[in-house]
Amino acid sequence: MPKIVVLPGDGIGPEVTRAALKVLKEVAPDLEFAEFPFGGAGTDAYGTPFGDEVKTAVAGADAVLLGAIGGPKWEQYPREQRPEMGLLALRTAMGVYANLRPVRVFPGLEHLSPLRAEKARGVDILFVRELLGGLYFGQPRALGEFEAYNTMRYSVPEVERIAKIAFWAAQQRRGKVTSVDKANVLETSELWRRTVNQVHSGYPNINLNHEYVDSAAMLIVSDPSRYDVIVTENLFGDILSDLAAVIPGSLGLLPSASLGDGAGLYEPIHGSAPDIAGQGIANPSATILSAGMLLRHSLNRPAIASRIDNAVTATLQNYATKDLGGNIGTDEFTEHVLEALVHTSVI
Ligand code: NAD
Ligand code: IPM
Ligand code: MN
Repeated sequence: MPKIVVLPGDGIGPEVTRAALKVLKEVAPDLEFAEFPFGGAGTDAYGTPFGDEVKTAVAGADAVLLGAIGGPKWEQYPREQRPEMGLLALRTAMGVYANLRPVRVFPGLEHLSPLRAEKARGVDILFVRELLGGLYFGQPRALGEFEAYNTMRYSVPEVERIAKIAFWAAQQRRGKVTSVDKANVLETSELWRRTVNQVHSGYPNINLNHEYVDSAAMLIVSDPSRYDVIVTENLFGDILSDLAAVIPGSLGLLPSASLGDGAGLYEPIHGSAPDIAGQGIANPSATILSAGMLLRHSLNRPAIASRIDNAVTATLQNYATKDLGGNIGTDEFTEHVLEALVHTSVI
């Protein structure tokens, strides 16, 4: 029985995780789940966001499903007790260096986009965000009273492995990779660009282009159809993927899979949304779709993953949560997804 570690986290995390678990239990009754407090909830329970008990469970898991972490309660805590540090430690412990963030406008859902329907139609971008390097982890780093600094660092092997994932993904898709950097200013970006070009020589059928991050930010919104796979470093990928969430219509729609050499980590790209936590109105689509990615990437069950995609799409055609301008709550939306699963066939 595949073992899934479930980390609901904080804020809306437990609300959207509960929804995804209902769906997973429906489509894959053989899975075994073990749930632990993590993030702020981890700090409350163990005094640390990523407790030893959780570390052991994660090390033995086939996949990890995470809701979201963070919130005002823990913002002033010492750094090592903050939820975000737990998330970075979890990603590091799992070695998940490749964060896949698909941004799709599903057929029939163009009306949810603030872009004109002809711009939104058919958008299907895969962000491949480097997840274990760059400014998030570079040493030295320090916060003093009058000065603070972080270090942007990348090595050739770190860029090579993420570039390979991007080219591999493009081979299954439309054969195009856009590498986003700031090579007109940053040395790390120069190394990034040179390395991506070297890796590209092993993928002659893939079309590669490079863009600077500032102009890419503009083009992602103004002409999203030009993109297939976008590969970029950690912080650029964090920012650009939230920006791209505007295209399908809400942050609450975007799932993610973080992959390395072992078990995968699956989480929505959004945070714990303290502004709406506890109200039962969060959009669970991103987490339900993340559960679908778990079935696809960690358990090799692509047909069930497609069924989940179809059921969420069908539900969004008829029902909208508050972030999408409707008034359907999290639980009610999830019930509709479960009904749609019964009626939705596999493509
Ligand atoms: P956020 O993503 O939590 O929220 C941004 C906005 O989007 C809010 O208005 C929120 O209500 C809305 N939103 C997000 N998800 C939604 C959903 N599923 N349905 C409906 N609306 C949704 O970002 P933030 O407010 O900047 O951060 C809040 C906390 O979350 C912080 O502590 C931050 O560090 C943390 N965070 C965690 C993760 C993660 O766990 N992976 C990701 C991002 C932020
Ligand atoms: C995300 C989040 C995290 C990140 C934070 C909470 C550490 O914004 O998953 O996108 O920056 O990676
Ligand atoms: Mn983010």
